Formats: sequence, structure tokens, C-alpha cells
Amino acid sequence: MHTTMVPVSMLVQCTANNFASASLLVVYKPEEHKSAEHYQKLYSAFSFIETEEPLTLLEKEKASYLLGENLTLTCYCPLSGVTTPYLTFHFHTLEDAYTYTRLYPNPAIDLPRLIKEDAKLLAEGKLVAFPTETVYGLGGDATNEEAVRGIFAAKERPFFDPLIVHIAELSQLDGLVAEVSDQAKALMEQFWPGPLTLVMKKHPQVADIVTAGSETVAVRMPANPLALALIKASGKPIAAPSANRFGYTSPTTAEHVREQLSGRISAILDGGACTVGIESTVLALHTPIPTILRPGKIGCEELKPLLGEVAMAKQAGPTDTKMESPGLLESHYAPTTPLYLVDDVRQYQGCEDVGVLLSEDIGVSFKGPVAYISEDKDNEKAAMRLYWAIRKLDSMGLRFMVCSLLPEQGIGVAINNRLRKAATKKAQPSC
Ligand code: TXA
Ligand code: MG
Repeated sequence: MHTTMVPVSMLVQCTANNFASASLLVVYKPEEHKSAEHYQKLYSAFSFIETEEPLTLLEKEKASYLLGENLTLTCYCPLSGVTTPYLTFHFHTLEDAYTYTRLYPNPAIDLPRLIKEDAKLLAEGKLVAFPTETVYGLGGDATNEEAVRGIFAAKERPFFDPLIVHIAELSQLDGLVAEVSDQAKALMEQFWPGPLTLVMKKHPQVADIVTAGSETVAVRMPANPLALALIKASGKPIAAPSANRFGYTSPTTAEHVREQLSGRISAILDGGACTVGIESTVLALHTPIPTILRPGKIGCEELKPLLGEVAMAKQAGPTDTKMESPGLLESHYAPTTPLYLVDDVRQYQGCEDVGVLLSEDIGVSFKGPVAYISEDKDNEKAAMRLYWAIRKLDSMGLRFMVCSLLPEQGIGVAINNRLRKAATKKAQPSC
């Protein structure tokens, strides 16, 4: 094993002592590896007082490439509409976690205040980006056509691509959908709040701009507590596509949103890194057989026991322009640096200007930068890190990046779907 994980329980002492517990996972590269001392110096606000395994493990073990750090912070912050008073935030790096504690030293006070302000903005027809468990959404009041038009403008999204409407309570379905079938009820009961979007016959009140003129509307109840509290406080159903410019990789941190939409929207509610990491499953219920239009964390295996038969929509080919769901268009989620899907990444071992995305340790030393989306073919972890890693490599001025498909199991189906869409179809270059 080249990579090493170091789980550490720490008590985080930020200025007001409000983040009660934290845990850290570090995977590092020898030449870049940092000692416990280094971390303590750099992040003096963190005090490493309780460790399951001593931080000095970082010194002892030999490791190869940088994955990043994976940190969670938990704080006490009761929010209206949220069942647990404890919120846990996830971060890809210790630095991100540290920055968060500096920005919001008193989460129990800061977050309810921000939610109130942002909900007011939404109710006034302004645009607010917010975290969901899948990716960050760019929200606007779904009942305000001007606000919805603003979403399309900020994203430079074509009007033919309809939006998902986000709700915090089932009562918000009134005026959104024509009826809730028994099938829909069963799905909502089992999977909401969660990463499942249901496409149903729309209520006549829903504006055409939301649904791109379609007789159906896509609805979901996100599982992120900040999202639920924000939607509830706004008192509106919130239309929200992923908070990226059209065609680019979806954002999984507030910083990603800032990079692409800053200056175009009124606020960004920061909730750390998204835990699912790829967009929700989109399931059409108005078709004779329930049909997955976009694969996501909730797959056929989970849906079949409730629905019996489940179909998978045909994915677009390079020349298709009109699909059942415009999100099925071939080219999507694409970084600026070309991404090639290859059978074996080892052939790029010697290329300094080629980035490699890996989902397991293959025991090879690469000259170019390597981003591990997981260390051991863990598809769920890979989904959480995928867009973060793609953006990291995309920012490095590389000639191109390479990746192999993951095992088609569980969320792996959805990851491969996104990788195929993000990848260039041109012939694979050599080193
Ligand atoms: O996880 C998610 O779903 C994220 C977060 C923010 O909730 N949202 C998201 O939205 O990915 P967006 O707009 O990037 O993707 C929505 C997808 C598109 O593929 C769109 O074509 C499809 O849902 N969609 C929306 N309304 C539809 C409808 N009425 N019929 C068929 N497809 C629809
Ligand atoms: Mg999107």
C-alpha cells in the first residue's frame, strides 16, 4: 500500500469553541507530506489534544501521492425544520475546514442569521447558491418568473433545459404537481429527503420557464439541513440547477460556486463539501414504466423493490440534440483541460504534463500530478471527490488528464455516466 490513512480525533478549538468534534483523514505524498508539527503551526486554532493514532504516524509511514485531507466538523446548531441539532460539515482539506471556522466561528449564531438573510433574498426574487447533499444549487423562487429567468442568465443556460424544484415539506407539492400517485408517495416516504428527483405531471400554476414548456415538473427534497432550513425559511418552492456555468463540472464546494458565479448572484450559503458529490437520480414517473433519466446515488437496485420494473433512458449519442431529458445531452460536466477515458493509465506514467485520476492505489509512480478520488475502489468516496479532483487537475495548466471507468456497481454507474460526458471523444493522445 502506498497511501496511508491517518484517522485522528481532535478537539477543535476555534475562537469560540463551537465546533465540538472533528475527525481527520490524511493521505499524502512523501515529498509533500506534512508533520503533525507542521499542521499545528499552520493551523494554530486547531488543538490536537486527543488522537486515536498519534499524528506522528505521518512521519513514520511511507506514502506516495497526495489525495488531500478529509475532515468533518460537528457543531451544535439547532435549525428550524431540521430534526437534529448537531450539524456535521465535511471538507476536502484541513485548510478549507480551518477557513470555515474562521468565517463562521459561532455556527449556532452565524448560520441561523445567514439562513434568515438568504431566505429573505430568495423571497425578494434574488438568487442564492446553497449546498445540497449532491452538489451546490443555484436557487431562485420557482413561483417568480423573473427570478427563474435570472437563473438561466447567471448560468448561461439554454431555456430548453428545465429546472428541478426543491421543497422542504410535502405540503409544498400543492400547486406544483397535478397529483401525487401511490408510487410517488412510496418513493417520497423512502427516499426523501434525499438525492432522488421525481418527474411528475405538473400543476397548471407552474410557469413554463421552469419546465421548459413541458407538461411535467421535476421535484426533489434535498437532505442537506442548511438547504432544508433555507427553503423552509423562504416559504417558497426553490428552482435550482447545479450552480455552475452551463456545460461545466458541477460545484461541490462554495469556492467552486464563487469561481464561476461570483458577481452574478446575491449570496452563497457555505455548507462545506457536498457528501454525495454527484447530481441526484432523475426518475420519470409520468411514463408507462418509471424511467431513470439521469443515474445517481439511488439506482435501479433500490428502486425496483418499490416500483417493480424500472427502465433506463437511452443516453444521447454525439449527434442527438433532443432527448427525453435535456440533461442526457452527450457533452456536459466538462472541464477545460481535455479528459480522456483510457483502459490503462500506466501508459502515461512518464508524462509530466498529464494529470491522472485514480480510484485505487495501483502501485505506480507517475511523473505528473495524481488525484486519488478513492484509495481502494470505494465508489461512494469516489463520487464525493470526483468533481473536486477534476477541478483541482483542471486548474493546473496540464496538457490533458486521464482516467479509467470505475466498476459499474452502485453509484459507480452514475460516476461512469458523468465521466463519459465529461470526457473528450477525440482520439487518445500519446505521452
Ligand atoms: O442533485 C441535483 O439534482 C442538483 C441539486 C442542486 O439539486 N441539481 C441539478 O440540476 O443537477 P440541473 O439543472 O443541473 O439538472 C437537472 C436535470 C437536467 O438534466 C434536466 O434536464 C432534468 O433534470 N429535468 C428537469 N426537469 C425535467 C423535466 N420536467 N423532465 C425531464 N427532465 C427534467
Ligand atoms: Mg447541471
